Amino acid sequence: MWCNSLGYGGRQGSAAEQAVVPVDRLYRWPGGVDPAIAVTMLHPVATAYLALFVHGRLRPGETVVVAGGAGNVGAALVALAATAGARVVATASPGDADFCRRNGAADVLDYRAPDLAERLRSACPEGVDLYLDTAGRNELAWTIDLLAVRGRVVVLAGGDTRPVLPVGALYRNDRAVIGFVISHATTAELAEAAALVNRTLAAGRVAPREVLPLPLSAVGEAHGLLERGELRGRRVVIRP
Ligand SMILES: NC(=O)c1ccc[n+]([C@@H]2O[C@H](COP(=O)([O-])OP(=O)(O)OC[C@H]3O[C@@H](n4cnc5c(N)ncnc54)[C@H](OP(=O)(O)O)[C@@H]3O)[C@@H](O)[C@H]2O)c1
Repeated sequence: MWCNSLGYGGRQGSAAEQAVVPVDRLYRWPGGVDPAIAVTMLHPVATAYLALFVHGRLRPGETVVVAGGAGNVGAALVALAATAGARVVATASPGDADFCRRNGAADVLDYRAPDLAERLRSACPEGVDLYLDTAGRNELAWTIDLLAVRGRVVVLAGGDTRPVLPVGALYRNDRAVIGFVISHATTAELAEAAALVNRTLAAGRVAPREVLPLPLSAVGEAHGLLERGELRGRRVVIRP
């Protein structure tokens, strides 16, 4: 069995040898999947499900931009959106372009390019239906202009940013900016997400690039690696 939402709303944290888990937040383990692989992808894939389908209302054939497409959440967004029949354009560091393409991105742009907005406009000539920025830059001043009529920006990171919102370009085109956080997901939404997580893992559609296994006694070390930015592309798996 697995659970993805410990440590929020008064529930016990995940860095414990034993924890009490509410039964409606407990899901069957996908048979045959390596737990060390699965545990790295449960949270990103569940987050991506909520972002794309619950809050982003993604439809097949739409164009999705995933800024930060090689990250944990970004890779899951790319894989799920492409599998759902969307055309995915990712932004990433150049060395991560192949990883994004293997996950299903049709086009990958260097996020450091000074003319990124123009490149995105060329890559999405019909406009962007859904824009997700996992890097949390939230550059709405130019992102809103890239959207198609009824295009959506789903905001999921960058809590301290204070972007400029071009209001006319937003409401005159039925566009929307929607925020969400997984900790507010209902148990029904989490169960839907869990079903997709299990199917995605069983099909081998998502996987971490590198796993760093550490014992429970090294949780402090893991937090240190994270804070110093030394985990790029690697996922820590804490073993009891
Ligand atoms: N709302 C929710 O419910 C929810 C749930 C889960 C996670 N999150 C949030 O989602 C965010 C992403 O998490 P993560 O684990 O996926 O992080 P991550 O693995 O570090 O991914 C971030 C990615 O963004 C890229 N990046 C950095 N600067 C960029 C820029 N200016 N433009 C485009 N891409 C850029 C990074 O590429 P380089 O390494 O090449 O720089 C990296 O691949 C975090 O802030 C996390 O808190 C939110």
